[in-house]
Amino acid sequence: MINHNQPNLSYKSIKDLNVCVKSKNLTTGKFVKKFENFFSKKYYKCGNSLLVSSGTSALFLAIKALKKNRKNLRILIPTYACSALLNAIYQAECEPVIADIDLDSFTLSTVKIFRNIDIIILVNIFGSRPDIRKVKKKYPKSKIILDACHSIGMKINSNSDIFLSDIIIHSFYSTKIITCGHGGLIWSKNKSYINFCRDFINFDFRKKYKTRFNFLITDFQASLLFDQVKNIEKIRKQRNRIFLRYKNSIPGNIKIFSPFDLSKDIIYRSVLIFDKTHKRNSLKRKLLKEKIKSIVPVEKFELLHNYKNLNKKNFLISENISNRTLSLPMHTFLKKNEIDKICKILENFR
Ligand SMILES: Cc1ncc(COP(=O)(O)O)c(C=O)c1O
Repeated sequence: MINHNQPNLSYKSIKDLNVCVKSKNLTTGKFVKKFENFFSKKYYKCGNSLLVSSGTSALFLAIKALKKNRKNLRILIPTYACSALLNAIYQAECEPVIADIDLDSFTLSTVKIFRNIDIIILVNIFGSRPDIRKVKKKYPKSKIILDACHSIGMKINSNSDIFLSDIIIHSFYSTKIITCGHGGLIWSKNKSYINFCRDFINFDFRKKYKTRFNFLITDFQASLLFDQVKNIEKIRKQRNRIFLRYKNSIPGNIKIFSPFDLSKDIIYRSVLIFDKTHKRNSLKRKLLKEKIKSIVPVEKFELLHNYKNLNKKNFLISENISNRTLSLPMHTFLKKNEIDKICKILENFR
């Protein structure tokens, strides 16, 4: 079977893991600390990083840090996203305000403006870039969390728009571009947010009691991440090359989600867009017959407004898109003959 996604673990990552396990420190320790420093210095080249147990806990902590002691904050999110957003908002005792997406970018629509929004979570869906500048203009008073779970590896420079966000979060879940099984990271230029989160995630050995929790990650998980981040530009180029092969192979009646600047962005998902659901399903079946796994990237039932039974009329773009999309295999272990095989099926699909 050609997998849809596969962890990008190198021989070097496994060697680093061995060193860590042999050191007999299995809990949070110097590898975690070292990775946090490495990530701020080498990846963002500024700011502060905190490794945590998952992308969902990173989202929850980011909301808690921005919320401070305020109650019932309203948090604007796109419906076409992961339910982790909804879960983090409810766990942080805030109120979600769910919006539809923009047809071209699949990111939060700014056509309808909602009132009294305290925080906005924007998502780099499938590796794309939401227009943070535009969102900030429409919501000048709101704080912004950038959910960059799909875009680790995009090229960043000191004036990148991503730095307009107050907090950026990542996931290192096994289907993500960089992985350690489960894991997440919170990054911010504002050290007080990171200090708050660092205090919250570990309850052990404290003189003064305060409600905290355990969102720690282990040293051996952190040890797996170094080599992947060091090789991120190579990974970006590999993924983008696969995307281009697909893009050049699709027949005229299929589109591919492509709001990317391939000189800077990293492709998380290669998502085909069909004019009819039955055609999408037919290609999915055809691929499966040839032992190629494709997935519907966000199913209709997963749209966040459907989890909340909101009126579908307010989410027509997401409803429509979820019916017509299919994600092709995308990982760095895809072999040339496997990519050729997928492309041939695409070329001949009518
Ligand atoms: C956009 C997005 N945000 C958040 C998460 C949650 O991350 P995790 O699975 O690490 O909790 C995911 C998926 O896993 C995601 O795709």
